[in-house]
Amino acid sequence: MNKLKPFLSSLAMGLIITAGLIMSGCTKEGPQGPAGEDGADGADGLDGEEQCGTCHDMSTDIKARILQWENSVHATGGNFERNDAGCAGCHTNEGFNDVMESGATDMVASGAMSNPTPVGCRTCHNIHETYTPEDWQLKGADPVTFIIGGETDQGTGNTCANCHQARDAGIIGTTPGEGEVTITSPYWGPHHGTQANMIAAHGGFEIPGDLAYTTGPHTDMEGGCVTCHMAEAYGVQAGGHQMAMSYQYHGHAVGNTAGCQDCHEGIEDFDFAGTQTDVQGMLDTLKAELIAQGLLDESNHAVPGTYPTNKAGAVYNYLFVLEDYSLGVHNHRYAKALLANTLADLQE
Ligand code: HEC
Ligand code: HEC
Ligand code: HEC
Ligand code: HEC
Ligand code: HEC
Ligand code: HEC
Repeated sequence: MNKLKPFLSSLAMGLIITAGLIMSGCTKEGPQGPAGEDGADGADGLDGEEQCGTCHDMSTDIKARILQWENSVHATGGNFERNDAGCAGCHTNEGFNDVMESGATDMVASGAMSNPTPVGCRTCHNIHETYTPEDWQLKGADPVTFIIGGETDQGTGNTCANCHQARDAGIIGTTPGEGEVTITSPYWGPHHGTQANMIAAHGGFEIPGDLAYTTGPHTDMEGGCVTCHMAEAYGVQAGGHQMAMSYQYHGHAVGNTAGCQDCHEGIEDFDFAGTQTDVQGMLDTLKAELIAQGLLDESNHAVPGTYPTNKAGAVYNYLFVLEDYSLGVHNHRYAKALLANTLADLQE
């Protein structure tokens, strides 16, 4: 320690001298200006680091959310290595913030990101920007322009809708019944998270048929996704910042219906009015038909090739409803219209 001291102090002297040399190298430095005014007091009249305590106090407000998030698919899903340009906007915290700061209207505009981190506190909130509770305000809260075109306003759920939306597979914008569309790979489709489109009733390939393509009873909820997915948490398994809808109880899955109760008092599971049973049945029937016609395989991968538009559209619609993962809860009318009209058209 003692031997180190002289070394450290000579190092420090060296640094000071170097800094001095650099500064004296700068030409014509003017006289020092007047001292600035004191900064304004923070929220609640707190000054400087006292503000840290508005969040970092004895409460477990942040702790609970961190524990929930740590057990969520956002944190554990493991797909945040999808940090290439075009993917990073939805799959990484850095990509999302890059798009938000650039003012681009959709997540596909992200650049590639190094040192990616998963969707987390700094994705949806501003952490350590003003050091006041203002920082909790949500990012991406404005109405969202869909990648496939059109705008949607899902209230508090807009933040979620930025990422949980369909990507363009080159079929939306083509006219049902006209021309051909190429299915480019087994992974072709609307891409895994079509929820915001389903709720807005926008972005399926709308083949004309008996059922109308309309919005549903959950389309205009003020809290949108947040009402159902971030309802009262069940430990760290569902709700709150974990965001899943189901948890395990004595070895079986139970639905977290906390967010439904205000409107459906006493509801015990999600299969309200048999909606999920119906939609699952329709999905199964359509899948069997798609496989019979050589358009899909058993593991829900598309069979690449060039097809009449409605055949490719049938694969797209099947995946659109499947990968919404709510079996009709998000919007039973739109889901059923897509499945029924598509099946009828395939069987013609
Ligand atoms: C508005 C609430 C809020 C305020 C005010 C706040 N913090 Fe934080 N802080 C957080 C949150 C949330 C995290 C966790 C962030 C994460 O994990 O991404 C955090 C994390 C931290 C960490 C862990 C390292 C890191 O950056 O993740 C430190 C250190 C920290 N804060 C220091 C401070 C200091 C010092 C102040 C005051 C100058 C302060 N915080 C004010 C919310 C706040
Ligand atoms: C920055 C983009 C982004 C935002 C914003 C976002 N998500 Fe996600 N979400 C994802 C991605 C990507 C995954 C999959 C993560 C993985 O697999 O690594 C995911 C996964 C999920 C899952 C788990 C899905 C499963 O397969 O089990 C739920 C539930 C979810 N998000 C709900 C929400 C809700 C509710 C919001 C708004 C409060 C939201 N998300 C906001 C990108 C986002
Ligand atoms: C518009 C936002 C968005 C973009 C852009 C995006 N993804 Fe995703 N991706 C998601 C969401 C949301 C999920 C999770 C859906 C869920 O589980 O409900 C997901 C899921 C995935 C999964 C997990 C699939 C599974 O079956 O579990 C992979 C792999 C993936 N994406 C790869 C990519 C790649 C590669 C790119 C770029 C070419 C990309 N994603 C671009 C939003 C996006
Ligand atoms: C996917 C988006 C998302 C992520 C990730 C996220 N939050 Fe949130 N957070 C929200 C939403 C949406 C709300 C508002 C919930 C409501 O209105 O009920 C919220 C609310 C909060 C609140 C209450 C704020 C207030 O005004 O009182 C706190 C505290 C909070 N989040 C902390 C965190 C922390 C800590 C993390 C990281 C571990 C985190 N959040 C990650 C979306 C997110
Ligand atoms: C009316 C309530 C409600 C609203 C609003 C809602 N969801 Fe869901 N969501 C559900 C239910 C219920 C399920 C689960 C169905 C099941 O597991 O059988 C689900 C399933 C999901 C899943 C599949 C993973 C999981 O947790 O089961 C994702 C991802 C998802 N929703 C995201 C969203 C997003 C993003 C929004 C807003 C754009 C949204 N949801 C709006 C009720 C809702
Ligand atoms: C903001 C109010 C609101 C919330 C919250 C809400 N719903 Fe609904 N839901 C409605 C209304 C209104 C209808 C249409 C009238 C009806 O069928 O009772 C409806 C209809 C439905 C239907 C379609 C029934 C049919 O006729 O086929 C299902 C399924 C459903 N809700 C499930 C859920 C589930 C599960 C949740 C919680 C995860 C939930 N809802 C939360 C208002 C809500």
